[in-house]
Amino acid sequence: MTAACIIREARTSDLDALAGLLGLLFALEADFAACATDTQRQKRGLTLLLQGRQRLVLVADADGLVVGMATAQVGVSTAEGGPALLVEDVVVRPESRGQGIGRALLKRIEAWGADLGATRLQLLADKDNAPAFDFYRACGFHTTNLVCLRRTLP
Ligand SMILES: CC(C)(COP(=O)(O)OP(=O)(O)OC[C@H]1O[C@@H](n2cnc3c(N)ncnc32)[C@H](O)[C@@H]1OP(=O)(O)O)[C@@H](O)C(=O)NCCC(=O)NCCS
Repeated sequence: MTAACIIREARTSDLDALAGLLGLLFALEADFAACATDTQRQKRGLTLLLQGRQRLVLVADADGLVVGMATAQVGVSTAEGGPALLVEDVVVRPESRGQGIGRALLKRIEAWGADLGATRLQLLADKDNAPAFDFYRACGFHTTNLVCLRRTLP
């Protein structure tokens, strides 16, 4: 990561840039492709995260330009008897990839979780997103036997 790039907590003024990044991410994910252009919905979700307790919204800021983001939320694992983090919204602008920004975002989330006593980071990835799997493996993640089930509420 270049010295000009810092990882910091997001602000309300970052919402447009964050929604732009989410659009890039959701376009890659079959489950969310239909939401890729719905910036109002994305900003609503981001605002909830920014206002919530035990939520973290990070941006990678390169000389004032938001080039990456990641979010984390604290849940409770009954299996582990303590806090566990759900990591989402990990995305770096195409021209800024391969410079360690994604890894730096995850490292910051890990440090935040460790301070809260979390024992685990967990996330979902589109099964066809092979580069993302390579990235997460390089960052110490492994796949598990669990699969995601979903029921949409009216
Ligand atoms: C996945 C993504 C966030 C990685 O961000 P990045 O800043 O380019 O990643 P980094 O430069 O920090 O790479 C960290 C490690 O992952 C590896 N890695 C990153 N992208 C990779 C790729 N496309 N293929 C193989 N390995 C990759 C790097 O080699 C590096 O390992 P190393 O340090 O041992 O060399 C970025 O490519 C992206 O935004 N992709 C589109 C959105 C996406 O798929 N997000 C994940 C959703 S679940």
